[in-house]
Amino acid sequence: MKRKHKIVLIAGARPNFMKIAPLINELDKIRSFKNILIHTGQHYDYSMSELFFRDLGLRKPDVYLGVGSGTHAEQTARIMIALEKELIKIKPDLVIVVGDVNSTLAAAIVCSKLCIRLAHVEAGLRSFDMTMPEEVNRIVTDRLSDLLFTISADSADNLIKEGVDRKKIFFTGNVMIDTLIKLKPRAEKLNAYKNYGVERKNYCLVTLHRPSNVDNRDNILKIIKALSEISLSLPVIFPVHPRTLNNIDEFGFRKYLKKPGLIATAPVGYIENLSVMMNARFVITDSGGIQSESTFMKIPCITLRKNTELTVTEKIGTNTVIGLDTERLFVIIDDIMSDNYKKGRIPKYWDGKASERIAGIIKKLFL
Ligand code: UD1
Repeated sequence: MKRKHKIVLIAGARPNFMKIAPLINELDKIRSFKNILIHTGQHYDYSMSELFFRDLGLRKPDVYLGVGSGTHAEQTARIMIALEKELIKIKPDLVIVVGDVNSTLAAAIVCSKLCIRLAHVEAGLRSFDMTMPEEVNRIVTDRLSDLLFTISADSADNLIKEGVDRKKIFFTGNVMIDTLIKLKPRAEKLNAYKNYGVERKNYCLVTLHRPSNVDNRDNILKIIKALSEISLSLPVIFPVHPRTLNNIDEFGFRKYLKKPGLIATAPVGYIENLSVMMNARFVITDSGGIQSESTFMKIPCITLRKNTELTVTEKIGTNTVIGLDTERLFVIIDDIMSDNYKKGRIPKYWDGKASERIAGIIKKLFL
């Protein structure tokens, strides 16, 4: 019998799971592939990890590294040490990494030193802000990758400017949108907003976890105060990320969350989040995934960051990046509430077929 090609897929943190799920589904359809899922354990809380496996119908990881939290160096190093041992045992023909989290970076470095072929899904995104840990992870991962799959046309320009051989770059689309399209009907049925006692299109959804926003006392205070002001006229649903909650507690800011219209909850699963987002009037976020998902669903999105690597969501989608300019925040909210906000279009190849394209390219590689 012919030997199967071994492909390892790496997932570690919450935003990885919705990207890995459609990829592994497509790769599993190719009979000459043996696909192995490794979970680094960067995220480990039920609501940050297991709940996503359940919602996404993602099969249990074949290997769990259980690295947990730590400083960037500690976390990245622990993943590298544990993953190196596994990859030496497995001897994969290809490793696939997604996005820009520390698990992605750690896996890229290990593969490069073991001379294992590496594919990066969501390559070429750049915020041009080296103070963002994810920007460092993106640049290093792309530099070490043999196959670079991009979600938007401008990603290839970024890579070519950095000297990447254009033959390695494939514009395949957004795998996160594959998952969204698949699970949208379930999210539509859920009508999760009703659990919060709010009306459809009459509330906003907020998510925050970027270190630049939530690790800095002044910044997080400014944001929470703005949210409580919004909540006086429009209910705010705010599922709080563990990093954000830890900081709110440490700074003694929990009292600011105790407002009738400010509904702070534990992090929610994929389908519930999608359901709340699709029925919201608008979203306020610093998450990459939510900038993409809101663009696809044409929900207005206000991003509390100085820049974005997902420039396509601002150029043609519904996103506006405003930093921490709270005056501008209220002007934009007025525009949205009076229906004077841009409508947005869906970017090319955000069509539910990105994983199929990627699997097709990988298949050809091994034929
Ligand atoms: C990570 C990613 C970020 C991504 C985000 C989504 C990096 C550099 N950052 O940031 O790009 O957008 O995930 O969530 O990889 N914690 C828990 N339980 C968990 C996970 C984390 O309590 O299951 C707490 C811990 O206190 C931990 C902190 O959150 O120290 C931060 O977690 P970490 O994975 O280091 O980074 P995120 O902020 O989640």
